[in-house]
Amino acid sequence: MDTSVRTVLTLLSACFFLAPLTTLAAAVGTAGSMQQYRLEKAEQGYRLALREAPIPKPDARQVLVRIRAASLNRRDLLVRAGQYGGADVSGIIPLSDGAGEVADVGGEVTRFKTGDRVAAIFFQSWISGKADARTVASALGGSIDGVLSQYVVLHEDGLVGFPEHLNFEEAATLPCAAVTAWNGLFTRGNLQAGEIVLLEGTGGVSVFGLQFVVAAGAKPLITSSSDTKLERARQLGAWQTINYRTNAQWDKAAFELTGGMGVDQVLEVGGESTLPKVLGILAFDAHVAYIGGLSGWGAQIPAGVLPLRNAQVSGIYVGSRADFEAMNRFIARHRLKPVIDKVFTFADADAAYAYMESGNHFGKIVIRL
Ligand SMILES: NC(=O)c1ccc[n+]([C@@H]2O[C@H](COP(=O)([O-])OP(=O)(O)OC[C@H]3O[C@@H](n4cnc5c(N)ncnc54)[C@H](OP(=O)(O)O)[C@@H]3O)[C@@H](O)[C@H]2O)c1
Repeated sequence: MDTSVRTVLTLLSACFFLAPLTTLAAAVGTAGSMQQYRLEKAEQGYRLALREAPIPKPDARQVLVRIRAASLNRRDLLVRAGQYGGADVSGIIPLSDGAGEVADVGGEVTRFKTGDRVAAIFFQSWISGKADARTVASALGGSIDGVLSQYVVLHEDGLVGFPEHLNFEEAATLPCAAVTAWNGLFTRGNLQAGEIVLLEGTGGVSVFGLQFVVAAGAKPLITSSSDTKLERARQLGAWQTINYRTNAQWDKAAFELTGGMGVDQVLEVGGESTLPKVLGILAFDAHVAYIGGLSGWGAQIPAGVLPLRNAQVSGIYVGSRADFEAMNRFIARHRLKPVIDKVFTFADADAAYAYMESGNHFGKIVIRL
């Protein structure tokens, strides 16, 4: 072979060989270091800043997790906008929901070993029973550093295993939206087969709600602004669907669909514009899990409404590790697969936020790390 041709071939093969290595180095950082996003002050709220940082070492009771996937919740938009509780979040790692594999453990860790597949719990210090002020101060990606980082260290108590049939991306959708829907329907709502459950819109919480209600043998009545999304909801087992955009009197339509009996359970995520309507269509003994304020938080609950229906409204704030574990058992038993709308790359985290802001999603949005 001609020497110049050989030289070109050698160079080409070297480039071919080196390219994946270069990509890999960019993906996991240089030796001993990694990449992570942190929130930085911007003109309005905060922006995502990609930073290189040393891979942390776990303390005695801590676990080092190589995060493989993270997912977004509406809260993450509020945190980035500086509108979540008003706390200064500059410098924190965003996002509460992540899953990955255990890369290293501290000397006193007993719950996990290297290689285990784990997901973070939303409130790091809420293990079971009642929440307290310490609980709220331990929320990932808001009160403390979150998971949009190639590696994180967390206390071993702040992690759970997840069902075997789920991959990292699916497991990453569970910590906030799914646990919230679970807590509202089962821990607080005591959902029974045959009950009619009102679900509002087709975002993360409501689509998990839909899947749980179907699996429990109850009857989901779901609303959406989009007929296409309602068709997807029917494919997932929705009992009845209503377009709340084309039918402003969706509450009356819902009441009629229940045969005038009213709805037994509600995952209330709409807030100001939906709660007053919901209170008018409750069945006797109904339970409303008051979760979100997509249209604002200013709704009032007239004092007479609840006793007359022997009904309850519960405020829901995600849930405990015990809720997460109970939910995992249910997900495993029913072989449920979280509905992921779109997966973004780590480099494209901003686009994932923009997609959530658009409201075009159905179910969950994931970032692969
Ligand atoms: N308390 C807690 O612990 C907790 C936990 C999780 C979430 N949340 C809150 O719950 C709400 C939902 O969160 P998410 O993460 O599921 O949000 P998400 O995935 O962004 O859901 C957004 C979807 O909700 C629907 N929607 C928007 N405005 C609506 C309205 N006025 N009436 C009915 N549906 C409406 C739309 O569905 P269509 O496109 O189908 O119309 C929209 O696409 C947010 O307010 C969030 O902050 C609270």
